[in-house]
Amino acid sequence: MLFEEDSENPAGRVPASGLGATRVPRDPGLLWSFGILAAVSLALMLLTGVFLAMNYVVGVQPFETVQWIMRDVSYGWLIRFMHMAGTSIFFIIAFVNVGRGLYYGSYKRPGQRMWTLGLVTLILMMLTAYTGYLLPMGQMSYWSTLALAKTLAGFPFVGRNIVRWIMGADSIDGATLTHFYTFHILFAFGIVGAVMAHLQARRMNAGEAPTVATVPFHPFHTVRLGIALLTFLIVCSVIVFFLPYTFEQSANFQPADPLVVPSNITPQWYLLPFYAMTRCTQSPLLSLVLVVAGWAALFALPWLDPSPLHGRQHRALFHPALVGFFVVVILLGWAGSHPTTSGWVLLDRLFTLLYFLFFLVGVPLLGLIETPGVNLDLRHRFSVKALLEGSGASALPPASVPRGKEAP
Ligand code: HEM
Repeated sequence: MLFEEDSENPAGRVPASGLGATRVPRDPGLLWSFGILAAVSLALMLLTGVFLAMNYVVGVQPFETVQWIMRDVSYGWLIRFMHMAGTSIFFIIAFVNVGRGLYYGSYKRPGQRMWTLGLVTLILMMLTAYTGYLLPMGQMSYWSTLALAKTLAGFPFVGRNIVRWIMGADSIDGATLTHFYTFHILFAFGIVGAVMAHLQARRMNAGEAPTVATVPFHPFHTVRLGIALLTFLIVCSVIVFFLPYTFEQSANFQPADPLVVPSNITPQWYLLPFYAMTRCTQSPLLSLVLVVAGWAALFALPWLDPSPLHGRQHRALFHPALVGFFVVVILLGWAGSHPTTSGWVLLDRLFTLLYFLFFLVGVPLLGLIETPGVNLDLRHRFSVKALLEGSGASALPPASVPRGKEAP
């Protein structure tokens, strides 16, 4: 039978297979479509990247080569703008996805594997973007790459050798461009692998999915998705056609000059929070330790948070703290975008401290306070429901609230 009767469906019947037969939660949340938008962005990045690679001549006057792509290659300007601005759009979508995972507690059982693979994807994205940024060989491409190389070279014993291996030389030259070009493409396709593993983990989790009200994917979610995609394409078109340089650093409009140091060397905006961490100390080794610890905290989150609750309703303390954490990350990036003077370094240190306090103190403590069955007075006192009802009496969810079964 090709169709089955379905009273929920506006058409009155659904296909017995395919999207119409796939059931998904009725209310998957406002930001649900960002997962698919990330996949669309990745596809656009790969497509424009391949077209750029057809015209980019590695190592031969890179700045001029990119200008030539912009001016003389058919629609080269469009392809480059899509690739250049597309990178920032891709990162915005990826950050929203990570933020959504934090907000809805998707990193908890059974989602740990998906969370880990999502973070691996984000790291690969950063590596891809970092290596790609050197290729046009503007002033900032050159100096921000050199700054990271110096940090890495400070690693005891092996630092210099690692840098020489990565860059193919002691400073940035033609060999470095060839290396970075190769890494750029390798990492980009590494992202595809990580995304596929991420989706595979999602499929495996589907068996453990909560029993919540569901609707057929088609037409409910196809319509929702269509609107999200249309909005996304309109926003991307506005950026690519009217504001292509929004995310570009002004120093990169000049060709790299090893003799002129820019007044403020900063990496691309999406690397700024971690760059700010590296500036907390003068020791290259400690800088690296801080960045690795920053990532390790994100990876360890499923084990740092003892609360089994996923729903928004029962985490009256965690969610305001999480919003505070988002603000701290933005402030960290903001501080990192400023020159390395004592005042800004002080702010780097303050926000880095708050970043780690959130993971090492805030998450475990709030998780304990909000865990059903753990009788901490604070939980009663700060429970939103109790405050609204004017009593500290049991505003707690039942001892074990399965995911998705929380009270509305
Ligand atoms: C999916 C992830 C990708 C990301 C995040 C990414 C990111 C970037 C970035 C940030 C730049 C510098 C843009 C500029 O300021 O001019 C760049 C340049 C470049 N990318 Fe990618 N890229 C990706 C995939 C690819 C792929 C798959 C290829 C080739 C097969 C590629 C080839 C190139 C080339 C040739 C350039 C130099 C030309 C230019 O600067 O416009 N990219 N990429």
